[in-house]
Amino acid sequence: MVSKIMEVKNLQVGINHDNRDVAIVNGISFHLNKGETLGIVGESGCGKSMTSLSLMGLLPPGVRWQDGDIQVDKLQFKNFKNKDWRKVRGKKISMIFQEPMSSLNPVYTVGDQIMEMVLNHENVSKKLARVRALEMLHLVGIPRPNQVLDEYPHQLSGGMRQRIMIAIALSCNPEILIADEPTTALDVTIQAQILELMKKIQNQLHMSIVLITHDLGVVAEMCDRVVVMYAGEIVEVAQIVNLFDSPKHPYTQGLLKSLPDINVQKEYLSSIPGVVPAPGNMPIGCRFAPRCPMAHERCKEAPPLLTTSDGSEVQCWLYDDGAEKEEIR
Ligand SMILES: Nc1ncnc2c1ncn2[C@@H]1O[C@H](COP(=O)(O)OP(=O)(O)OP(=O)(O)O)[C@@H](O)[C@H]1O
Ligand SMILES: [Mg+2]
Repeated sequence: MVSKIMEVKNLQVGINHDNRDVAIVNGISFHLNKGETLGIVGESGCGKSMTSLSLMGLLPPGVRWQDGDIQVDKLQFKNFKNKDWRKVRGKKISMIFQEPMSSLNPVYTVGDQIMEMVLNHENVSKKLARVRALEMLHLVGIPRPNQVLDEYPHQLSGGMRQRIMIAIALSCNPEILIADEPTTALDVTIQAQILELMKKIQNQLHMSIVLITHDLGVVAEMCDRVVVMYAGEIVEVAQIVNLFDSPKHPYTQGLLKSLPDINVQKEYLSSIPGVVPAPGNMPIGCRFAPRCPMAHERCKEAPPLLTTSDGSEVQCWLYDDGAEKEEIR
């Protein structure tokens, strides 16, 4: 039986630009099932990181939570204060950041950084926290873990540092792991190892994962379901098989066309002509219409709503009955 562990409803995150509120994430809703890996894909600037940072209460200065709420079990995150977030972060939801090198503190040893996470969340002695740190290094496959515990981040390779990030994120056994481009900075072989490791640990710890990536190859490898974002909105939600076999939204279809050969070095998704519109300068109708090969008048006039089609959810006039009727008329 599938059960939801997290539900995001109408999340709106934005900035103040020229004295008006501008949304960078525009009222998105989705859920995460227990034990699944949910992918979030979309081109650069679509709001993937802002969405994931919202789930951790870690929005950067100047970016505000404007509306919506997030529910994990019985916890409602809407009106969370900083102290509430601190209890949740690491323990219930943990995150691996897009910039692994800058997320580790260069002046503390690896052991200190894992222990800090454990000591912040659990009522254990320093000695026990150190034992846990050592266990975590074993879990993420660090060779000579006893020695590495007392080393500094700069003494380790990129792949090893990413493993340390995972060790820190998982040290309090979180129910949900959010991984924002966890392998983008790594070369292909190390990337495969880290993804394999995440899968293994997910099975061991029964975690649910939100995996943010540009890379549809990674999505195919890792995810059960996928949320496709475009310009701060969700345009499609699909089971992994449906996403690849019968992508619905013209944007999703465009992303799949730009998928490089599986044996060739990965590339950023960039072959759809045109660029993502900037926040504050969004089209009135469908946000993808100016780049869409299938756009018609209706698409430029009013935004479509998310509707269901063959088990996928899609936000496109092509799948809206009203649009078809109007076309026929
Ligand atoms: N601190 C900030 N202040 C104002 N706007 C921001 C800030 N950070 C990001 N943005 C804007 O918010 C939008 C979404 O950014 P976000 O970082 O979530 O994109 P992304 O999908 O994660 O992209 P990438 O794939 O490049 O990581 C972009 O238009 C970006 O310019
Ligand atoms: Mg990002």
